[in-house]
Amino acid sequence: MGRVDEDVKRRGREALASLRRGPSERTARKSPRAEPEADVAASDDGENPIELPAFDPPPIEGADAPTRQLLAHAAEDPGPLLLPSVLAIANQKGGVGKTTTAVNLGAAMAEEGYRVLVVDLDPQSNATTGLGLSARDLGSSVYDVVMNNTAIDDCIEPTSLKNLFVAPATIDLAGAEIELVPAMSRELKLRRAIDEVREDYDVVLIDCPPSLGLLTVNGLAAADGVVVPIQCEYYALEGLGQLLRNVGLVRSNLNPILDVRGIVLTMYDGRTRLADQVVDEVRLHFGRRVYETVVPRTVRLSEAPSFGQPIIVFDSTSRGAKAYRELAKEVCRDAKRRAG
Ligand SMILES: Nc1ncnc2c1ncn2[C@@H]1O[C@H](COP(=O)(O)OP(=O)(O)OP(=O)(O)O)[C@@H](O)[C@H]1O
Ligand SMILES: [Mg+2]
Repeated sequence: MGRVDEDVKRRGREALASLRRGPSERTARKSPRAEPEADVAASDDGENPIELPAFDPPPIEGADAPTRQLLAHAAEDPGPLLLPSVLAIANQKGGVGKTTTAVNLGAAMAEEGYRVLVVDLDPQSNATTGLGLSARDLGSSVYDVVMNNTAIDDCIEPTSLKNLFVAPATIDLAGAEIELVPAMSRELKLRRAIDEVREDYDVVLIDCPPSLGLLTVNGLAAADGVVVPIQCEYYALEGLGQLLRNVGLVRSNLNPILDVRGIVLTMYDGRTRLADQVVDEVRLHFGRRVYETVVPRTVRLSEAPSFGQPIIVFDSTSRGAKAYRELAKEVCRDAKRRAG
C-alpha cells in the first residue's frame, strides 16, 4: 500500500476519533495541524492573514441515526461503482462547481466509452446550455417530467459528444419547487422517471440546484450516491453538515441505499495557502471519500460553457480537461455491472 493511502487512512482514523470525542473536547485537543499558525492563510496578496472557517460536523453521538451512519463510514473506501449508477451532484452552496463537474465529468466518462445521461435539475439550466442546447429549441424538459409525468425519454437530447445525452431544464423548473408542494409522492417524481431509462445508460449524473428544496430532494431520492463538489475557498465547508443531515434524512425516509459517494475538490488555486488548507481539512474529515484528483481553477474551464462545449472538446489538452479525465477514471475505477 502506498504512502498516500496510509496517510489518508491515518487522517480518516483521526477524523473519526475527533468526531467521537465531541465538539468541546475537539477544541481542547487540537491536532498539531490546528495550531494558531496553521489556522491562518495568506490572502491574495500573501500579506494579511485571514482566519479559516471552522468545520464542525455534528458530534457522532448527538447526531441523528442516519447522519451517524454516514459519518461513521466517511473514511471507508466506498467500493467500486456499480453500473448502472445514478449520481446526484449536490451542494446547496452556490457556485462550487456542481454544473462544471456534471458536464465535464459526464463528457469524460462518455469519452471513456460509458453511456452517460446528464439530468439538469436546476432552473438556471447551466448544464443544458453548457452542453450546447438552447431552451428555444426544446420540446419538453425536466419540468414536464416532474410536473406533468412526461416520460423522461421524450425530453432527452443527444449532445455533440458520442455517448453523452442530456435531459434539459428550462427556467420553468423554478415553478416546480412550489408547484410540487401539494403533489402526491412529490419527492419521488424524478426517481420514477429515471427508473424508466436506468438500464439505457451506464451513468446518470443529476446536476442539482443550489438549495436543499424539493428539487434537490428529488435528485437525492433518485440517486444511488451523492458527489459533493467543494470549492477550495474561504467558507467552502460551511453548510456541509446541513447537507449531510439532509442526505441522512433522505436516506432514512426515501432512499435507504443513498450514500456520499465522493467529494470533489474544485477550483484549486495552488498559489494560495488557503486552498491547501481546505484540501487538508476536507481530507482530514472525509478520508477515502475524497477523490485524489483535484480540479484546478482555470480560465479555460470557465470559458467552455459559453461555447456550449465540455472542456475535453473546447480545449482537449488543457489542465481542466486533464483533471476531469482523471476524475472520470477515478470515479469509474473498477466499475462493474450490478448483479442480477
Ligand atoms: N475549475 C474551475 N476553474 C475556473 N472556473 C470554474 C471552475 N469550475 C467552475 N468554474 C466557474 O465558476 C462558476 C460556478 O461554477 P458552476 O456553475 O459549475 O457552479 P455550480 O455549483 O453549478 O453553481 P450553482 O450553484 O449556481 O448551480 C462558473 O462560472 C464556472 O464556469
Ligand atoms: Mg449549477
